[in-house]
Amino acid sequence: MPLLEVQNLQKTYRLGRVSVPVLRGASLSVEEGEFVAVLGASGSGKSTLLHLIGGLDRPDRAESVIRFQGESIYGMSAGGLDRYRARTVGFVFQFYHLLPELNVLQNVMIASMVRHGFAFSARRTGVRARATGLLEAFGLGSRLRHRPAELSGGERQRVAIARALMNEPRLLLADEPTGNLDRKTGDAILDALGRIRAESRQTVIMVTHDAHVAARADRVVKLEDGCVVAEHSRPLV
Ligand SMILES: Nc1ncnc2c1ncn2[C@@H]1O[C@H](COP(=O)(O)OP(=O)(O)O)[C@@H](O)[C@H]1O
Ligand SMILES: [Mg+2]
Repeated sequence: MPLLEVQNLQKTYRLGRVSVPVLRGASLSVEEGEFVAVLGASGSGKSTLLHLIGGLDRPDRAESVIRFQGESIYGMSAGGLDRYRARTVGFVFQFYHLLPELNVLQNVMIASMVRHGFAFSARRTGVRARATGLLEAFGLGSRLRHRPAELSGGERQRVAIARALMNEPRLLLADEPTGNLDRKTGDAILDALGRIRAESRQTVIMVTHDAHVAARADRVVKLEDGCVVAEHSRPLV
């Protein structure tokens, strides 16, 4: 069984009287341990697709199905879907989305607090140790007390990846993680993602408009006209 099965995703945005069909039957299957890149032009629906996979939004129709380990995520109870979003999935965004008032260590620990409750997590030295360990692994051991504003873009994104990994997500979703970085810094971020993959067989879905970035994945698919097609433009069944 694939870790994730996406079938016939349909999503149309409506702005007043204008409808913008974005996903028109997108399907994708991802095996545990795979690193899949979804390549698509700006506006092709990549972020929409990731939000649906991560349970942050819902498809339009009941025929659209997303199964994680065989279970339909939109069939889950509200609590089940909350757990899926907070534990099963980790998100990395183009613009980092770090909390400006918190330091680096707190930004990473907060993922665990969302999962376990603030009072519980704050008492747990294990949480602090794991967050520190992740940050050290990303070369940020000397930045723990810095605020995001005191870091470079590449450093901020490494903090964001550490935060996304804090709860050991089964699935890491990365939305143009290098889109705001120069090529060299972006390559370093992709190297860091590659190391995580090698060490823990982390399953990753990354969306990007950049073929050079997509080429770092094990498998590249394209998002075109609202559907996922293989790199050779053969529709994926
Ligand atoms: N919340 C929204 N309301 C209306 N239109 C949206 C919304 N989000 C995205 N869109 C539109 O849907 C299309 C796909 O957006 P998006 O998924 O962000 O594409 P990408 O990430 O590939 O650039 C774009 O035309 C965008 O303007
Ligand atoms: Mg986007």
